[in-house]
Amino acid sequence: MSESATTTVVERKDDDRHYEILVDDRRAGLTAYRDLGMQRVFYHTEIDEAFAGQGLGTQLVQQALVDVRASGMRIVPICPYVAKFLKRHDEFADITDPVTPDALRWLKAELG
Ligand SMILES: CC(C)(COP(=O)(O)OP(=O)(O)OC[C@H]1O[C@@H](n2cnc3c(N)ncnc32)[C@H](O)[C@@H]1OP(=O)(O)O)[C@@H](O)C(=O)NCCC(=O)NCCS
Repeated sequence: MSESATTTVVERKDDDRHYEILVDDRRAGLTAYRDLGMQRVFYHTEIDEAFAGQGLGTQLVQQALVDVRASGMRIVPICPYVAKFLKRHDEFADITDPVTPDALRWLKAELG
């Protein structure tokens, strides 16, 4: 095994209500959500500047959405980055719900 190989892991942090991506145990970014019943509402994704443009955002969102499916939940893509990802990955279309004015109002209240 090469010593320069990096390990990338995506973890769900229930207390913080986000998924984070770790590169060699260092947090490189996160995608944040709130749960509305069985809907997981994604509203913000960020990758640290130092890790930008390496496909980590894509990897993070992909694995987060796989976890949503495994949890039997549905996706509401308020975050524009997640929405853009979903336009290119129709394998999640069956568990994606539209962003409605009600969902936007609810999120605004949730986030204060
Ligand atoms: C957006 C962001 C998460 C992308 O992370 P990344 O690891 O560099 O992303 P990847 O390398 O996986 O993908 C880059 C792609 O993201 C797209 N992208 C960059 N900013 C974007 C945004 N605000 N909304 C949607 N897509 C965006 C790029 O156009 C690029 O697409 P391409 O592959 O068609 O060229 C990161 O640039 C970031 O943290 N930006 C600041 C916060 C932000 O704007 N978040 C998104 C809205 S909540």
